[in-house]
Parts: sequence; structure tokens; C-alpha cells
Amino acid sequence: MPTALITGANRGIGLELTRAYAAEGYKVHACCRTPSQANELRDVEGDVTIHALEVTDHGAVDALATEIKEPIDVLIANAGVYGPGSEAQTFGSLDYGALRDTLETNLLGTVKTCEAFLPQVAQSGEKKMAAITSKMGSIADASGGSVIYRTSKAALNMAMAVAAPEAKRQGVAVAVLHPGWVQTDMGGPNGNIDAKTSAAGLKERIAGLKPADKAPFLAYDGQEIPW
Ligand SMILES: NC(=O)c1ccc[n+]([C@@H]2O[C@H](COP(=O)([O-])OP(=O)(O)OC[C@H]3O[C@@H](n4cnc5c(N)ncnc54)[C@H](OP(=O)(O)O)[C@@H]3O)[C@@H](O)[C@H]2O)c1
Repeated sequence: MPTALITGANRGIGLELTRAYAAEGYKVHACCRTPSQANELRDVEGDVTIHALEVTDHGAVDALATEIKEPIDVLIANAGVYGPGSEAQTFGSLDYGALRDTLETNLLGTVKTCEAFLPQVAQSGEKKMAAITSKMGSIADASGGSVIYRTSKAALNMAMAVAAPEAKRQGVAVAVLHPGWVQTDMGGPNGNIDAKTSAAGLKERIAGLKPADKAPFLAYDGQEIPW
């Protein structure tokens, strides 16, 4: 039975990814900050093991990587935050404390998760690793506003782009994936797609990944996004 590990699995896109992989027969290690409150996650049908994981706690990430001894076929580093409201994300009134906090989750926490679990992904059959980024992290699309969120995702993209050739040496495929504008707590009710559609697309993109020196930056629907 193949195995997947997903962070931020208690709501939004992470919850739908968990449902999608569990429905296909994967054993899913579903990570969330507060398992006691993860009611929807607990109700997911299939082989789902819930783990407590705050991705900014690097000791906890390492401890979980030690605890889960089996190979991980698909790792999805999905947990992320948007950061503060628009004024604090505008050049001229930036909130530097919020910038640091956002980087802790979207950059350091995501990269740390990928780094800590790389050995287990390398031992697996599928050997696939995806970081959920955003089109807003595309420097080619730096259309203003959301400085903190955009910067955190652009930095994540660079870290994963550099990780790709390293991971390739171990046979592991790496990608940064944009989930679309999705109706979740982060995306709000006006998003273009629901989380189920996004998760189905992301799953398809991950299935098609191959180890490569250059990581693909793809949207859920397969569209290539300029870096
Ligand atoms: N929705 C969109 O339109 C959109 C567009 C582009 C990219 N994205 C990206 O897609 C990913 C998922 O977003 P979403 O829309 O599903 O957001 P969401 O509904 O706000 O869910 C975010 C998830 O990340 C978890 N999380 C946040 N900080 C964490 C931390 N430090 N440690 C562990 N877990 C943490 C949250 O846990 P708690 O419940 O404990 O807070 C929650 O499970 C994010 O990386 C986001 O940047 C979303």
C-alpha cells in the first residue's frame, strides 16, 4: 500500500488531499496542529493516521520523521498562512514581525518538512515531493500588494528549485504547485474552484512528476507558471 504524508491536513486543501489519497487506498499520515479539534479529519474514511505537527517547531518535525519509520511515497508540504491584512503587507507600512512569522511557516516550516522526510521519500516506490506554493510567489507576476505572502512563497520556490537537483540524485521528484484560487478559509468564498477540484488536480500533477534538475512550477490544472 503506498503512503502519503500531508501537512495542514485538518482543513481546506490539505483536508481534501487527505480525502483524495485515502480514497485511492493510500495510507495517509495526516498532520495538523491540534488533532483534538480535527473533527472533519477524524471522519475521513480510509487508512488515515493523525499526527500533531506544528511545522515551525523543527524539533517536532525531526521527531515525527524519526517516529514514522516507513517509506513515504508522496510528501505534500501544504501547511501555510497568508499573513496579516493588506496594510501590513503594503510596502510603506510593512509589519516586519508578521513577515518573520509568515516566513517561519511558509518558508522555513515547509522546507524543513521536505528536508526531514527526504530520506523516507527516497526509500519509497513513488518518490514524489510537492510544496504547495502560490502563483503569487511568481516574480514574473509581482503585480503589487501582499508583499509578505508573495515574498514567503517566492523564497519557498527558490528553496525547492535548489532542492530539486539534490533530491534527483536520490531519485526523488520535486515540484512547487499552485492550487488555484480555492474556496477555503484562506482563499475566501469567492475563489474560482472548490478544494475538492484543487486537490484532484494537484494529485494528478503529483502523479506525473519525474525527478528533474529543474523543478516544475505548475498550477493544479497543469498550466506552467513562470518563476
Ligand atoms: N486557498 C487559496 O486560494 C490558495 C491559493 C494559493 C496557495 N494556497 C496555499 O495552499 C495551502 C493550503 O491553503 P488553504 O487554502 O487550504 O488554507 P487554510 O484553509 O487556511 O488552511 C491552512 C492549513 O495550514 C495549517 N497551518 C498553518 N500554519 C501552520 C503551522 N505553522 N504548522 C502546521 N500547520 C499550519 C492550518 O492549520 P490550523 O487549522 O491549525 O491553522 C490549516 O490546516 C497553503 O500553503 C496556501 O498558501 C492557497
